Amino acid sequence: MPLGLNTNYLNSFVSEAELEAIQPEIKKAHDLLLSGKGEGSDFLGWLTLPEDYDKAEFEAIKKAAEKIQNNSQVLIVIGIGGSYLGARAAIEFIKSQNYNAMPKTTPDIYFAGNTISSRSLNELKAVIGDRDFSVNVISKSGTTTEPAVAFRIFKGMLEEKYGKEGAKERIFATTDKAKGTLKKFADSEGWQTFVVPDNVGGRYSVLTAVGLLPIAVAGIDIDALMLGAKDAMVKYADCDMANDCYKYAAIRNILYRKGKKIEMMVSYEPSYTMMNEWFKQLYGESEGKDGKGIFPTSAVFSTDLHSMGQYIQQGERHLFETVVFFKNSQSEVLIGEDKDNVDGLNFLAGKNLSFVNEKAFEGTVLAHTDGEVPNVVIELDEMNEYDLGMLIYFLEKACAISGYVLEVNPFNQPGVESYKKNMFALLGKPGYEEQKAELEKRLGR
Ligand code: PA5
Repeated sequence: MPLGLNTNYLNSFVSEAELEAIQPEIKKAHDLLLSGKGEGSDFLGWLTLPEDYDKAEFEAIKKAAEKIQNNSQVLIVIGIGGSYLGARAAIEFIKSQNYNAMPKTTPDIYFAGNTISSRSLNELKAVIGDRDFSVNVISKSGTTTEPAVAFRIFKGMLEEKYGKEGAKERIFATTDKAKGTLKKFADSEGWQTFVVPDNVGGRYSVLTAVGLLPIAVAGIDIDALMLGAKDAMVKYADCDMANDCYKYAAIRNILYRKGKKIEMMVSYEPSYTMMNEWFKQLYGESEGKDGKGIFPTSAVFSTDLHSMGQYIQQGERHLFETVVFFKNSQSEVLIGEDKDNVDGLNFLAGKNLSFVNEKAFEGTVLAHTDGEVPNVVIELDEMNEYDLGMLIYFLEKACAISGYVLEVNPFNQPGVESYKKNMFALLGKPGYEEQKAELEKRLGR
């Protein structure tokens, strides 16, 4: 089985009786999700996406990816939040955290428009250098400041290098199908566009063109990714105790009610680092509202055991861990015999590094549970496209169920607007004059 939930380490924290007791709430959440009667039901497109996606666009994505692979040494993906995290997470997870530095036949892929740091943008310009490049600008609303500013700059670079006509061949816009500034811009300039479906919110959009185009450019098999998600859709469809996706949602809520208000997603693979970031947005933005919500954080072990391990073992007992563990490491390093054995490591001779990693996991999970940190383990077979597709769907659906159990709307993000409004006002955007004066007074100007 490619994906399984191991709850063996949870026994002293979550009982069978508690799991049974929360079932009516899980059922209610399931009914809300499936009937479309819950809050945020305009954004349920992701639920059936692995099956109900636009097949013609899917083929167009593959063709565009091929075009970029053929004419570009670098792809710049411009987007923020849900408009970049999924793609970056999938590329680093499947290919490598060092994807750009690895020997390969596909373009380097860099992400821009997810920060307003001028240093970072200038670095990226230097990294592109004289190389041929294309841009995939991704914004559902088309008005998000960070990507819009970055796009203005990279579009200018493209036009300077290739002329307006040449740049046209190198700009790919992923946005709303009909409305928004970016859509209008793309139509008037004649750039190829891809659609962020109306009913799929940013953080649930990795399996749309938002994620799929950059992922395909990296040479990742997007058919296998979708197949994994589709199989997960079938596997986690029914509301019963055997549904591990629902069980994970139930466990999270039970632990939360017992004061475990922080969930640390843990992996023993550095290539999972950006998947952790994707998870943090998915869960943080979906649940953190109305004064409620588990705070999602993350770690990569054993690396972070040497920085955060002390706190986890003995600090405040408000944490639980969700470990994502891969049974097959994809690549092996054999530890050799040393005739002098000065480092005393000959007891490991003949073993693979993945064996040591596995023992680190087993040792840690036992130590942390001894330290009153509940551990739930999501086990996957392989670090491949199919298993990733399953995991993405599993986490998305568990998030929606968990959010409804928490009685929040898992599909909105009203809180994100506050900083934007202040920033617009302080930047002097027309229409924000009153707020500007008020905010500047608070800043002591
Ligand atoms: O999940 C979300 O909705 C957000 O993270 C958005 O994706 C992010 O704010 C970017 O928005 P947009 O795609 O409209 O530029």
